[in-house]
Amino acid sequence: MSEAREIKEQTGKLGVLMPGMGAVATTFVAGVELIKKGHAEPVGSLTQLGTIRLGKRTENRVPKVKEFVPFSEMDDLVFGGWDAFPDGAYDAAVLAGVLEKEHLNAVREELKEVKPFPAVFDERWVAKLPATHTKSYGSLREAAEQVGEDIRSFKEENGLERAVMVNCASTEAYAQPQKAHFSLEAFEEALDRSDPAISPAMIYAYAAIQEGVPYANGAPSLAADVPALVELADENEVPVAGKDFKTGQTLMKTVVAPGLKARMLGLEGWYSTNILGNRDGEVLDDEKSLKSKEVSKLSVLQSILNPEKNPELYGNISHVVNINYYPPRGDSKEGWDNIDIFGWLGYAMQIKINFLARDSILAAPIVLDLALFLDLAERAGMSGIQEWLSFYFKSPMTLPELYPENDLFIQQMKLKNTLRAIKGEDLITHLGLDYYE
Ligand SMILES: NC(=O)c1ccc[n+]([C@@H]2O[C@H](COP(=O)([O-])OP(=O)(O)OC[C@H]3O[C@@H](n4cnc5c(N)ncnc54)[C@H](O)[C@@H]3O)[C@@H](O)[C@H]2O)c1
Repeated sequence: MSEAREIKEQTGKLGVLMPGMGAVATTFVAGVELIKKGHAEPVGSLTQLGTIRLGKRTENRVPKVKEFVPFSEMDDLVFGGWDAFPDGAYDAAVLAGVLEKEHLNAVREELKEVKPFPAVFDERWVAKLPATHTKSYGSLREAAEQVGEDIRSFKEENGLERAVMVNCASTEAYAQPQKAHFSLEAFEEALDRSDPAISPAMIYAYAAIQEGVPYANGAPSLAADVPALVELADENEVPVAGKDFKTGQTLMKTVVAPGLKARMLGLEGWYSTNILGNRDGEVLDDEKSLKSKEVSKLSVLQSILNPEKNPELYGNISHVVNINYYPPRGDSKEGWDNIDIFGWLGYAMQIKINFLARDSILAAPIVLDLALFLDLAERAGMSGIQEWLSFYFKSPMTLPELYPENDLFIQQMKLKNTLRAIKGEDLITHLGLDYYE
């Protein structure tokens, strides 16, 4: 049993700040308001519905996660953010077309109150948006200072002591860490000279971490996952996590692949294709943003199957991911997976998955869980990379010397054991021999 951490009480309200108030962000906010009014259940949310086993199976101690660790109540959440368009959350939600009129009208007033600050926007990073609601600044340093001011004024206006940030903005052009990102000193110099290597997503992350606001990245854009911002998070003792919400096709991939691996079934190829028609899809219709998403989606199989250890099963996998913008579908994404596997004596078999998903319906509860878990981490004195939140991401952040865990079940165990460790409970190993000895 580890020693329980001291967890500060969750007094007062918690601000949830979102760069990008489009389909995901507004579906999250509307959902919380509807749930508060008793119109719906928080389906898909581990913090609200999940349970956690404690101690031995003979003890029958299985509380709800939210009874085990102290979270803010949904009534205590206050929403804000930034967007490249001036629409309040109601108009943005109508435009996103995810929720039915009947649902939106039931929380119309609450949504109308949520208005975005102007965005830090640069069309070099998101090409397909005719942005109209943007900040003007001299240097990128000034842009970061303006975001910092927004955070402070949001907290002050709403009487908040605590806030978290979850990035829900459009996917930016693909970028890899480079010189300007390698140390905090280099990053700050790059801010001063407005180096084109610094993206808007990094500015929001930098400002949040500077303000002591825990940060999670729901987009595949490069942001807090650069050494400079991890250094800042460690220095300022701020929790960070990312990136790219694991929702539809990749969620299924990280459920099925561990199953094949567990039974030592071989894999020859995995062909994944998607059609989606929302604004996210429109942004991804640009080659540079598409690359960020494809890289994020492609990364998961290698670490789950570990081909070096089993070249006879996974040494020659053809993994293809396609994303196609198809407007008639709106937010209702359709994903097809064709999985070519082989079994005993190399005999071939196929698995087909056709997931008729709803993108933002899958992502919204993740925003809620991340907001509550990040705030818990902060109150429990945890800082820097929160690898235990890998459960929610396609490309989990880890220390550079560690490979990421992408297997959903390992991620779940990591998350729940972290909660047990925070509370000083025994970790669960599932050994079970002691019951029989
Ligand atoms: N829905 C899912 O299942 C899912 C899963 C994984 C990741 N994501 C990611 O979440 C993000 C949001 O998805 P969505 O469906 O809500 O997209 P969306 O297009 O509906 O919303 C994104 C919003 O971000 C705004 N924006 C763009 N650049 C900005 C900037 N620099 N600052 C502030 N706002 C900015 C846009 O104006 C838009 O309103 C995307 O990056 C997407 O790839 C979504």
